Amino acid sequence: MDNNKRPETMERINSKALAEAFINEQIKEIKEQVGDKKVLLALSGGVDSSVVAALLIKAIGKQLVCVHVNHGLMRKGESEAVIEIFQNQLDANLIYVDATDRFLNLLADVNDPERKRKIIGGEFIKVFDEEAAKLTDIKFLAQGTIYPDILESDGVKAHHNVGGLPEDMEMELVEPIKLLYKDEVRVVGSALGLPDEMVYRQPFPGPGLGVRCLGAITRDRLEALREADAILREEFDKNGLAGKVWQYFIAVPDVKSVGVKNDKRYEGWPAIIRAVNTTDAMSATIEEIPYELLHHITDRITHEVPGINRVLYDLTPKPIGTIEWE
Ligand code: XMP
Repeated sequence: MDNNKRPETMERINSKALAEAFINEQIKEIKEQVGDKKVLLALSGGVDSSVVAALLIKAIGKQLVCVHVNHGLMRKGESEAVIEIFQNQLDANLIYVDATDRFLNLLADVNDPERKRKIIGGEFIKVFDEEAAKLTDIKFLAQGTIYPDILESDGVKAHHNVGGLPEDMEMELVEPIKLLYKDEVRVVGSALGLPDEMVYRQPFPGPGLGVRCLGAITRDRLEALREADAILREEFDKNGLAGKVWQYFIAVPDVKSVGVKNDKRYEGWPAIIRAVNTTDAMSATIEEIPYELLHHITDRITHEVPGINRVLYDLTPKPIGTIEWE
């Protein structure tokens, strides 16, 4: 049997009871596969790796070693949430690596989007590899592969697999959710007790804010982007749009315009809001955000975020624009 193929008889996991049955079955299989050996996992804080972590913690506890690499391109509060949930609440064996300087130094002056992606992906593997080398006795590597990853591994989205790990690592793979669709992963995540913010998180590209801080990344513009993005998310949360809109974020281009602040000339970057709906990310339509809310968000971002002096709303559907700007 091809164990990368979902059996036609496999029921869609769409209830707590089915999720629990899946979890119990996986716990048994994981225990059988790994015995008393240690398992390593790159924990980004995204839905898939978080669900795999929670599942493995339940199955083998401290035999799981999670490594969270903060590449400095996370959204506001994300690395902190990973530490809070996995280290503090689930008592996981978590290694936190703040590699911000390494990534930002390498990315300085790099303009080309695909080069930026390559650098981020390559450095991620290096940092993870270095951490793995410090550990002894690791026999298994867990991965948050899901069924669409298997179906799409024809090269079309190869550039998306930033978390892809080195092939020469001599470890056996543990991929407990590889036959699940995304909606099923979320149901399993909830049944495992993960918070909604994590389970229903909007998609976030592997290279993170790196592809939204357009052109060559600078620390000040990246910080402005992170703060503006946090305001957008907070307002979408408060106004009931968070669960409704598929993906929403800010992009900040490397362009300055003239403005006025406190009666003085104030040059700043524009923050561009993007809020799209889609089912498969191949095409996307624009969410019609109420004007009143747009004004409020504009007011907050221009007053609260140093360096930003305008807010724009991107009305371009996909196609012709891609969802991300880079
Ligand atoms: P585009 O911009 O191609 O985006 O319309 C479609 C979806 O893919 C996400 N995306 C990425 N995800 N690494 C990722 O892991 C990437 O390099 C990357 N680029 C785009 C994007 O956020 C959207 O959900």
